[in-house]
Amino acid sequence: MADADQDIPALERATIIEVTPGAVEEMHRPASTSADGRRREQKADVLLKVRGLSTHFFTPDGVVRAVDDVSFDVGYGETLGLVGESGCGKSVSALSIARLVPDPPGKIVAGSVIFDGIDVLKLNDDGIRKLRGKEIGFIFQDPLTSLNPTLTIGYQIAEAIREHMGLPEKAAKDRVVELLSKVGIPRARDRLNDYPFQFSGGMRQRVMIAIALSCDPKLILADEPTTALDVTIQAQILELIERLSDEFGTAVLLITHDLGIAAGMCDRVNVMYAGRIVETATVDELFETPQMPYAWGLLDSLPQLDDVRGEKLRTIEGMPPLLINPPDACRFHPRCPYARDLCRQDEPELTRRGNDLHLARCWATEPGGWIA
Ligand SMILES: Nc1ncnc2c1ncn2[C@@H]1O[C@H](COP(=O)(O)OP(=O)(O)OP(=O)(O)O)[C@@H](O)[C@H]1O
Ligand SMILES: [Mg+2]
Repeated sequence: MADADQDIPALERATIIEVTPGAVEEMHRPASTSADGRRREQKADVLLKVRGLSTHFFTPDGVVRAVDDVSFDVGYGETLGLVGESGCGKSVSALSIARLVPDPPGKIVAGSVIFDGIDVLKLNDDGIRKLRGKEIGFIFQDPLTSLNPTLTIGYQIAEAIREHMGLPEKAAKDRVVELLSKVGIPRARDRLNDYPFQFSGGMRQRVMIAIALSCDPKLILADEPTTALDVTIQAQILELIERLSDEFGTAVLLITHDLGIAAGMCDRVNVMYAGRIVETATVDELFETPQMPYAWGLLDSLPQLDDVRGEKLRTIEGMPPLLINPPDACRFHPRCPYARDLCRQDEPELTRRGNDLHLARCWATEPGGWIA
């Protein structure tokens, strides 16, 4: 096979894109920047507006405050990164936006999610099904819900296209071939009758991306889309997502624990800690003038290619807190080298630093705080 992925043994990676039947009613949309030749229209000032989102899990051990009062926007065509250590609420944020939080034990207890002018949390089941897959593609890593092993690749992609776009058999098949070619599957027409096990991990990932893009969604929620792939394939897949999002004008919420990936892919980045956003900025601002000591810690733990001094990478001391009982006041204070009494007494708000796109939640670096 010409494709490099073909030589890679099938990886223990399962990934899914949630694609459900139905189609969102065609809405009036003014023209925007899509490069695919179609008129893309905008219903609202930003594509996705998340406000005060709180998602909790009601477990026998107590309430897990996985996402706690989270607010952010994703612009039309923008790639926004969501970074932070394991367990800080990245996946639950994305699942909440697509209304895929398992209930019970999960519940969205507060907030709003406005997608392209639609109030997602108020949609009925039919409404949300129509939105998912057609307007919002979901790529995520979950061994339990991967591609269906008993159905051919061609069938699985065509299914989404037929249901959401209402294309007849032949046109749907042509689109499947077009999509598979776009995501770099060689001899796509010959592979339609193959089953997932006949594809390597990298190729299955490309199939997932093809499904996510199949109905030309406005937003892709990409939850660690490359974590389990080897570095070469990871780079190819990220490059693919970037190129396709440029081509289709698709916005991406890219979840990653890897700041290096966020730096390469994103326009802006949200840093999450213990269920909260603690800093948000453009990539350049975040890397040049991070404001929250937690973000400093994440950046310090990134290897630098130009660092020839052989210095040891610094790590953030301690562990992220359990979200059943997060620390009072600033949630980072038990691990923060700059913490003072105020940090243990009161939680800071996200406040503006430098420009409107840069906000941070920290007393110490608050304008007038104790770190210059
Ligand atoms: N079904 C569930 N029941 C109970 N708690 C859950 C459930 N799903 C997630 N959580 C909890 O919600 C919190 C946030 O989890 P989430 O999966 O969003 O983390 P994450 O930032 O995506 O981490 P990772 O980088 O490891 O994927 C964690 O404390 C997790 O244990
Ligand atoms: Mg996750």
